[in-house]
Amino acid sequence: MSAPNLSRLHRFVTAVGAVLAEQPGEPAILDRVGGLLAELVAQDDWLPAAYARPDPQRYQQYLLHADSQERFSVVSFVWGPGQATPIHNHTVWGLIGMLRGAERSQPYARTADGRWEPGGEPTVLLPGQVEAVSPAVGDVHKVSNLHDDRVSISIHIYGANIGAVQRSVFLEDGTRKPFVSGYSNTELPNLWDRSAELNAALRG
Ligand code: FE2
Repeated sequence: MSAPNLSRLHRFVTAVGAVLAEQPGEPAILDRVGGLLAELVAQDDWLPAAYARPDPQRYQQYLLHADSQERFSVVSFVWGPGQATPIHNHTVWGLIGMLRGAERSQPYARTADGRWEPGGEPTVLLPGQVEAVSPAVGDVHKVSNLHDDRVSISIHIYGANIGAVQRSVFLEDGTRKPFVSGYSNTELPNLWDRSAELNAALRG
């Protein structure tokens, strides 16, 4: 197998940094960074195998890059067959680009009595396609691998060090559980994964 073409990821990260240095508003970020992400996921020849490994128990979130100023982070989401997230939010802007396989994103909306129910039709993301989330454009969803017989992989970029952001998981009955996702990387010391201490603080 030939070496993964990491120059694509390098170009993406550098171009995103240049966009954010201009401090554009969120609509321009979603548009411009979304275009860069669409370019990145147009080719599936660059993601190293260590960041494409599924886990039989749960979906994986491998940190690919964290901006030193924590303006953004890039993560590969690796779905085993049939795996899904709980209903959750992000609290910051995010863009999801499909690299391999397919995923299904079901938006959720809050009811008058505080429960969560599906809000509109689910989106199916196919390789090369990009979807946005944020408190302004819709922040609560449940995502699943469209396939129950194979791995799917999407590349996510968020407007923060997402693994250390305090956010929420929701149950349909309205119950909210605070959580910090962390990252699944285990091979190297992960400077950016503060989830253990942050989750301990949340539990008091
Ligand atoms: Fe999400």
